[in-house]
This record gives sequence, C-alpha cells and structure tokens, in this order.
Amino acid sequence: MNAYVGTPTSRVDGRAKVTGAAKYAGEFAADGLLHGFVVVATIPRGRIARLDASEALKVKGVLDVLTHAHRPPLADKDEAWKDEVAPEEGSPFRPLYDDSIKFNGQPIALVVAEDWETAKFAATLVHVEYREEQAFATDLEAGRSKAIEVKQPLKPRGDAAKALAGAAVRHEADYVLPTEHHNPMELYASTVVWDGNGRLTVYDKTQGVQNVQKFLCSVFDKKVNDIRVLSPYVGGAFGSGLRPQYQVVLATLAALALKRSVRVVLTRQQMYGLGHRPATIERVGLGAKPEGTLNAVVHEATAVTSRYEDFARNDTGWAEQLYKSANSRYSHKLVRLDVSTPCDMRAPGAASGVCALECAMDELAVALKLDPIELRLKCYSDRDQSEDLPYTSKQLRECYARGAEAFGWSSRNPTPRAMRDGKELVGWGMATGVWEALQMPVAVRIVLTANGHAEVSCAASDIGTGTYTIVAQVAADTLGLPIENISVKLADSTLPQAPVEGGSWMAASSAHAVLGAAEDIRQDLARLARAMPSSPLAGVGAADVILVDGTIAKNGDKTRAISIADAMRHGKLERIEKQKLNHFAEDKSHARNTHSAVFAEVKVDEQLGVIRVTRIVSAVAAGRILNTKTGRSQIMGGVVWGIGMALHEETMIDHRFGRIMNANIAEYHIPVNADIRDIDVIFVEERDDHINRLGVKGLGEIGIVGVPAAIANAVYHATGKRIRRFPITLDKLL
Ligand code: MOS
Repeated sequence: MNAYVGTPTSRVDGRAKVTGAAKYAGEFAADGLLHGFVVVATIPRGRIARLDASEALKVKGVLDVLTHAHRPPLADKDEAWKDEVAPEEGSPFRPLYDDSIKFNGQPIALVVAEDWETAKFAATLVHVEYREEQAFATDLEAGRSKAIEVKQPLKPRGDAAKALAGAAVRHEADYVLPTEHHNPMELYASTVVWDGNGRLTVYDKTQGVQNVQKFLCSVFDKKVNDIRVLSPYVGGAFGSGLRPQYQVVLATLAALALKRSVRVVLTRQQMYGLGHRPATIERVGLGAKPEGTLNAVVHEATAVTSRYEDFARNDTGWAEQLYKSANSRYSHKLVRLDVSTPCDMRAPGAASGVCALECAMDELAVALKLDPIELRLKCYSDRDQSEDLPYTSKQLRECYARGAEAFGWSSRNPTPRAMRDGKELVGWGMATGVWEALQMPVAVRIVLTANGHAEVSCAASDIGTGTYTIVAQVAADTLGLPIENISVKLADSTLPQAPVEGGSWMAASSAHAVLGAAEDIRQDLARLARAMPSSPLAGVGAADVILVDGTIAKNGDKTRAISIADAMRHGKLERIEKQKLNHFAEDKSHARNTHSAVFAEVKVDEQLGVIRVTRIVSAVAAGRILNTKTGRSQIMGGVVWGIGMALHEETMIDHRFGRIMNANIAEYHIPVNADIRDIDVIFVEERDDHINRLGVKGLGEIGIVGVPAAIANAVYHATGKRIRRFPITLDKLL
C-alpha cells in the first residue's frame, strides 16, 4: 500500500486552484443576489443610544438596514450559540442581538442593497450615537493585577517554588507576546442562497461545515434539512474559521428577512473585529543543579480574554513533554478586557508558551555555560512526566542531531557577537518544538463503480492543508487504483460526519476513515471474486486478498488475480458503496506528540539594527508523512509564520480608545518574500506502530512551534541583547 502514500504527490486540487475553477464562499452566484455591508461600532464598551438608518434607506438600491431593533428572531439561550469549539465558560457573542457594545469593531448594522458598492456607500450614512456607561480596558499589562486563575492545566509535581528558590543556577523572566490576527488571503464571506421555499444553501468560509450547519439551525430554530452548508475551498483560515463567524449569521439573517439570496463579505479591516491570538505574558522560572540538569520548572501564563467568554489554551505545561524535572508548577490566568473573544491560531497555546519556554532554556544554557543542545539533551525526557507515560514514538533526539548536522551547528562560536559577515553580526540559535498528535471521529463514504472509478466523500474541509490530496492518495492505494480514478468530495454538510478541521487531527483521522471504508469494499470484492467460476482466488481468505493495479489479487501472488471490473460485472453490480466511521483503539497507555528541532541563522546590521533571517532548518518527527510535498509546504508555512511571530506581527491597540490602529496588512506586518531566504525542512523518520494503523501523527501546527524562540535566541547570539518583548523590532536592538 504505497504507490502514493509517502510520496511527494502533487495536489489533486492544484489545477482548479491555479486556474480559478475553484470557487470560494464569496464567489458563488445566485439569482437576484443581494449584498450586505456591515456597519461596526467605534467604541469598545457601552450602548447604542440611537441608530438612525433613514438616510441610508433613501439610497436607490438599498433594500433594508438590519439592526438589533429591526431583524428576524434570533435564539435567546447561550446554549443555542455554543458551537462545537466555543469556550465552555461564557456567553457567545450574538451579532445584532441587543444595544450593548462589547468591543470596538463589533457589527451593529447590516446594510442590504442590490450591489456591494451601494451597500458600502449607504453604510456611511448610518448614524449612530453611543452611551458610554462604564470605563473600558484593553491593555493586558495594565490589567495584569486583575488576572483570574481559570484553570490548573496540570497537577503540580513536588515543590517547584522551593526548588526554584534553592536552585544553584536560576533563570526567571517574563516574555511578552502581543495580540496577533489571522490574515488569510480569503476574506470572511458567506453566500446564502434562498431556494424560494425557505430552505437555505450556505457557502461559508469555514473550517467545519457541519459545525456551522448545526449552529445556524440552533440560532435560527431550523431543522437539519433546512440548511445545507458548503465550503469546497478555503483560502487559508489557520484557526479563524473554526468557530462560525458573525458574517454567516448576518447573511442568513438578511436572507430570512428579505426572502432573497444574500452575500456578506467582510473587509480586511472588519476581520480584525473577529478572533485573534491572545496577547500573553508568559512567566517562566527554571532552576538547575550545577551540572546542568533541571530541578524546577514554573510556567505561569497570563492571557487576554473578552468580558463575555473565557478563552484559554494550553500555553504552559509543555516542559512536561520535553525536560525532566522533579518539581514543576503551571498556571493559566486570564484578564477580561473589552475586546472580542480570542480564538485558536495555529498551534494555539504552544506557539506562545513554547516560545517563552525555549527562550528561557537558552538563557539558562548561557547561565550554565552549556551549549543549548547539550542542555536539552541533559534534560531530555523519554516520558510524559505529568502522566508518567512513554510516547507512542519520540525521535526528538534524532531531530536535534539531524537538524544540527544540516545546519552546521558544530562550527558555532558560543560567544555572542563573535560571528560576523561584513558589517552584519551573525547569530545562530535553536529551539525545540512540540505539539499533540490528535485524532477525531470522521466518517467517509466510498462509491466504487464497475468502470474502476471511486468517489470518496466526507464533510471535512480542506483549509489548504491538502486534505483532498491525502484522501485521494490513501483511497488510491487501498483500492489499488490510479489516483486519476479517484474523485474526492469534501466540505458539504450533507456528506458523512466530520468535526472542524483543526488541531492537526484531520490527516490521521480522515486517512483512517478511508482505510476502513476501503477494507469493507475489499471484503465485498473478495467475495465476488471467489464466487466466479474457476476463480484463481478460490480458497483465499479475505485477509489474504489485496486490491492492486485494478485487480483483486492474492497477497504475495499477483498472478492469482481478477480484475475489479470483471468481478463486479459477474456479480451484476454497477456500484459498491461503503460508509465507515474511523476507529481508533482506546489507549491511555502512551502519550502522543509530534516534535521538532528548529535552527535559525540571523544577520543583524550593527548600525541599523535591521534583522534578517537568512537560514532556518526545521527537523520534524511526526510519524509517517502521508505526502512529503504538501507536508513540506505545511512546515514551510509554519516557519514563515514563526518568522512573523518573532520579528513582525503585532496588533496595536490604542488603549485610550480601545481601538486597533493597524487593522490592515500594510501596517500589520507579516513576512513578505523578501523576508524569506533558505528554509530547509527535514522529516526525521519515525515509525510509530502504536498511534494508529498507518503510523500517522499530523503536521498542521508543529511547523510554527519553536521557530520564534530559535530566532530570538539567534538574535541574542548575534547581538548579546536579550529581547523578551515580541516582536523583536529593530528599535528594541538600538
Ligand atoms: Mo488550527 S488553530 O487548529 O486551525
């Protein structure tokens, strides 16, 4: 089973994407389509005292202006608004629900017109007066003293405070990470098609069509068959499309109000009113024995959340997966501010928390006069310490070794400012990355037709990660067909069940659903083949039958084979259809993680402070890699984002007004082509017989984890300056 799996197979949807044949949520047409434009609040907290839409309504082509005072009914109870990935604690935001303002940029009206330009113009004529009743706050650092402890991520082990206080060598510091916003290329968009009978077809930009469908049904009190949600292509999401976003509620609301098809597309600026990676202050304390082994780890995260929901992710605790220490303590605190609720952004929790941990480890290595890799190897943990479990697989040692070799780490001069290239200081830094290897229930349907074609379908999204391709690869291999004979249908709520695509769980989960359905098809085919007159497969048990090269064959003896087409024709079957939910054996005997070692080279202009990341080597151990081409792209994308986290990205809020100042991609800096030089991705071979039958762990998030710290550590090595406030912009070096 490996004609395609494990190879650099090109994307099966690549042609559709580059030719424009692939359609995105905001591109679907409908008869008489109307366009909505959102009006957003310009204060962070208060009430709408007066909202006057009369002037907007006079504009030719404007049909309606929906507001909290003028709209179809919406569900009341919090429960109705809790989607599959909503925070457990709190009351989800409801657009146009009442007169209260919870964050700057909150939608307060939807202008609906015959065309988008008219709606946009009319939106400028909606006049709003506010009542600001209470003081607002948007500054995490100013609110730090008011932080509340929301959850104890892991049980403390030993007495970390005492061990830290008594440590021979100790490092303690705050690492401050700013708010960041997802900036996918595709804007948030929903096209709601009204069929005339009250049924809706919703094209939505989302990471989970069934999540959106259930959510809309509950918010609008509809039956499952009344709303169908599709999201065939997604132009990047990175976590921002995990929860249903407000534009899909507004587009649906308008379609129901006007009994017409409606599209709502947000502007780039309006997208900054949605979720974000929360700003955090990560306090890390490490205590070591003189010989350089850890004896205390303390990690306390203080993160932003909104006033209406407690959003918390696992920032701390990753040291339990990486470094042996007899004493540890972790805590997560939240500061409730007048901002929208944060949401998941690639490697939520780990990207921030491991950044701080890995910078702290570098500082400890300096204090101990140890090479940073040597320190990590001295502390290397073969077990998940918190649960005291072995790993299904953990080739992190090999990641350090392979990464160091490819990077040329052995020729590093450990003294800061000792390496130069002309007028630039050269810095080499490294860090560890870690993420979870999760798997979720996913069902897949395969329809095999007698002409040797198979259609594989599932409600899962492909958010650009390559799901279409890996599903096709696994189906082709398990059915013994060329990949051209496989068609894949995804992201339609009427297809077999799938959760949101996120958490790096979809590759392993969908691959195993395909495997299960293909095995059921093989069973049927084996039965058909055996029933044929003078069958060469007579007496061959189902377990010894394989599907290969379009035939049903005896394993290990391809001469004993019957073509799939012949067997189906003989059995008078035009099609075989099987649907299967994946199955993973319940097993709490092992910890499951992916790992990486990241090496970075920076060059810093000594006079100007300009930082360039000239080389990154990322050595990743993530079990079996289903597709080395799309997999490499995943890791490269994560590395690029890591460069952004280290040096560029920062949502700037003017705390006097509680308003984001750089809500656009001109002033919210992300890496551009000129910022990207050499990126070398190494997949370290990792055989894993424990995790699942294919040995697959998933790759979505691991690519970013560790990258910001490797760069920060390289900047220290180049300049001798330790910057603990991200992003590391040149002003901080001067
Ligand atoms: Mo990812 S943050 O789980 O889409």
